[in-house]
Amino acid sequence: MGTAVALLLARHGHDICGVASRTEVSARAAGARLHARVFDHSTELPDSDIVLIGTSDDAIEEVVEGVAERMRPGATICHFAGSLGIAPLRAALAAGAHACALHPVQALPDVDTALARLPGSAWGVTTSEGARGWAFSLVSDELEGIPVWVAEEHRPLWHAAAVTTSAGLRALMSSAVAMLESIGVEEGATVLAPLVSGTLANSLEGGGVALTGPFVRGEAETVARHLASFDAHAPELKGDYVRVAVLILEEVTRIRGVPEGAQSSIRALLDSA
Ligand SMILES: NC(=O)c1ccc[n+]([C@@H]2O[C@H](COP(=O)([O-])OP(=O)(O)OC[C@H]3O[C@@H](n4cnc5c(N)ncnc54)[C@H](OP(=O)(O)O)[C@@H]3O)[C@@H](O)[C@H]2O)c1
Repeated sequence: MGTAVALLLARHGHDICGVASRTEVSARAAGARLHARVFDHSTELPDSDIVLIGTSDDAIEEVVEGVAERMRPGATICHFAGSLGIAPLRAALAAGAHACALHPVQALPDVDTALARLPGSAWGVTTSEGARGWAFSLVSDELEGIPVWVAEEHRPLWHAAAVTTSAGLRALMSSAVAMLESIGVEEGATVLAPLVSGTLANSLEGGGVALTGPFVRGEAETVARHLASFDAHAPELKGDYVRVAVLILEEVTRIRGVPEGAQSSIRALLDSA
């Protein structure tokens, strides 16, 4: 994440004056990618306008405490953790720096994927007083993203929404693929892919258009058939189905309503499953 952000900033004319990490291997890899010199952040911090902290979330505060005193007064320090605001940057704030928490709503497994996916992504922005405009410009003009202001106390919920989407979709897909495998259908992901694409497109349009299927039509008998089939062929997967079905039923009820009588029948089936 840190390397990708630095590369995007370099494309917009920033000079990357140094890179550090916990291990030498990582520091050298990032240094090679960024054409930047490797330094030891326990003893040194190059003179710079911006310090990017791309460590895992639980290391941010400790790393910031180590470098804060060496920051140039008026410089800005940024981290990328979703559930954290500027609190872990307090040592740098106390030393006269500006602080920014910048979280892209994206799944970024490696540097090249990050370079491809970050432009166009939304970023949750939380800053110290006076740094909001700077951070919004950085995100929109240089990281080519869409800045969204998030209050300090709302950062965990901001992040929960992103996790629910990305890891949640992945978990749903794994469960559905396992259901197909349980009846001997290989290549489950390929079977489901067009449905996933169509449903995502519908969901992004909003409203009730994305909702189809037995819950919308109030087909309690179909749900009963599903449950009986899990008992017969894949009892270990029934719990997944029931948990998701409860969510679906609540969503359908909220958005457009389940046909009269059917909601309580389906709910009773799920409760007794
Ligand atoms: N990846 C994503 O999809 C994504 C999306 C949004 C936000 N973020 C955020 O971006 C940040 C970085 O995530 P990432 O996925 O890029 O993690 P990552 O690939 O695991 O990289 C973390 C880097 O931090 C270094 N590090 C860890 N502890 C350190 C310490 N105590 N001192 C110095 N360096 C340390 C690691 O160094 P070594 O390799 O040397 O151990 C590693 O190079 C996190 O705050 C994360 O929440 C990530």
